[in-house]
Amino acid sequence: PGDGLLNYSGKCKHPCLFSPFFRADIALIGLAVMGQNLILNMNDHGFVVCAFNRTVSKVDDFMANEAKGTKVIGAHSLEEMVSKLKKPRKIILLVKAGSAVDDFISKLVPLLSAGDIIIDGGNSEYRDSTRRCKELKEKDILFVGSGVSGGEEGARYGPSLMPGGAKEAWPHIKPIFQSIAAKVGTGEPCCDWVGDEGSGHFVKMVHNGIEYGDMQLICEAYHLMKDVLGMDHDEMATVFEQWNKTELDSFLIEITANILKYRDADGKHLLPKIRDSAWQKGTGKWTAISALEYGVPVTLIGEAVFARCLSSLKDERVKACKLLSGPNAAKFSGNKAAFLEDIRKALYASKIISYTQGFMLLRQAAKEFGWTLNYGAIALMWRGGCIIRSVFLGKIKEAFDRSPDLQNLLLDNFFKTAVENCQESWRRAISTGVQIGIPMPCFTTALSFYDGYRHDTLPANLIQAQRDYFGAHTYELLSKPGEFIHTNWTGHGGSVSSSSYNA
Ligand SMILES: *[C@@H]1O[C@H](CO)[C@@H](O)[C@H](O)[C@H]1NC(C)=O
Ligand SMILES: *[C@@H]1O[C@H](CO)[C@@H](O)[C@H](O)[C@H]1NC(C)=O
Ligand SMILES: *[C@@H]1O[C@H](CO)[C@@H](O)[C@H](O)[C@H]1NC(C)=O
Repeated sequence: PGDGLLNYSGKCKHPCLFSPFFRADIALIGLAVMGQNLILNMNDHGFVVCAFNRTVSKVDDFMANEAKGTKVIGAHSLEEMVSKLKKPRKIILLVKAGSAVDDFISKLVPLLSAGDIIIDGGNSEYRDSTRRCKELKEKDILFVGSGVSGGEEGARYGPSLMPGGAKEAWPHIKPIFQSIAAKVGTGEPCCDWVGDEGSGHFVKMVHNGIEYGDMQLICEAYHLMKDVLGMDHDEMATVFEQWNKTELDSFLIEITANILKYRDADGKHLLPKIRDSAWQKGTGKWTAISALEYGVPVTLIGEAVFARCLSSLKDERVKACKLLSGPNAAKFSGNKAAFLEDIRKALYASKIISYTQGFMLLRQAAKEFGWTLNYGAIALMWRGGCIIRSVFLGKIKEAFDRSPDLQNLLLDNFFKTAVENCQESWRRAISTGVQIGIPMPCFTTALSFYDGYRHDTLPANLIQAQRDYFGAHTYELLSKPGEFIHTNWTGHGGSVSSSSYNA
């Protein structure tokens, strides 16, 4: 590969090698830090990148500084940029999500020819990507919406890349994408083809939702250590360092250990000084909204979003704290080491539930939109490079390798056994926390999901009866599924079932 001008057998790839035109393998529009880093990453891997920014002076700045001494080519207009690209042309947009993407697409289309590829690597909403994919298909342009995760550092040295859209584009961008992506294990790239239309951005959205869940789960473990066991920050840091050597080995556990240890300029721990009111940019919320929209019980991410909302009511909580009491005689009297292991297992089991739910949402979206998704590949894409990267995701990949049609992660033998091994601890951690009055929205919702999923009979028969009682909504009998029955419960009900309203 080397300089991007030779193919893998070392032969000249292009007849116009020495032409002043057709010199770049790919173009990138949008020279904010992510864009710059992605360009430098591609350059490091031997690809010639053409850089463009709407504010043209940014191009000159970049060429004179960060890109100095590289093979990056600067362009001062979209026309110039397009003229420098090999065919099929490949153009990455890394601009603000929303109308800026549409603006650039409409300016680019007249300059492109059939088979050229536009890749949106921004944080676009998946429905926008689906729309763009369809609109551009009519113009014979291949659109790819790619999730990019890993922040500035990831973009520079190996992001997780989640491309989806027009599949004909994949063979053309695959060598570039897979070489710049993070690598795990024996060099497997954290980038593969996700699926059709907006699925790349959908998968990125679910990644972010899972990230909200993982973060909240760690917070609940921290809360239990701090307020049930009364541990100090250095001690908690040591525990997280130990956990990082178990099934929980992951980026978020690792940074949590580092955060707990961190001391401010005054020598005191920084963490307890930080205002406990969490902000959000909305991707967790969008995952929860999709879950509601497609009827999938992604309860843990929902609770993680709500936990941030509750935390942000700081002033109100400070007032409520003076008025509302917790349980009496709330003191822990068990074995500390044993309880720490209970917390660790509660975290692990809850995490399994969260990923189970996330993959349920992916599966339902695939059904909804007619996408073919490669679930094992998605797990591998998240295995490295991104915020939720962990050894655990390798286990999910293995589960889908064993059984590509796996309906639910909990039905895989590895995860079934893992949850079973945790369950006594999980229940103990939660009941102790509840007794002492510690909020654990994600630990508890995860356990409720597990208990709900494993029950063949739930009390929803009563819901059906209630609906029929007050609204004549009808129900089915266990013995006669498919037959809709209305009962005259009160003796003054009508015989007509309701179709005019639903409750
Ligand atoms: C141009 O570069 C600046 C950063 O230098 C960035 O904020 C902006 O999004 C870029 N815009 C476009 C459209 O290229
Ligand atoms: C966590 O584990 C990884 C290896 O899996 C290691 O690279 C990292 O340094 C560990 N972090 C901490 C804080 O122990
Ligand atoms: C409902 O039951 C009452 C009392 O048994 C009866 O008078 C009434 O006719 C029933 N209604 C219908 C629609 O069957």
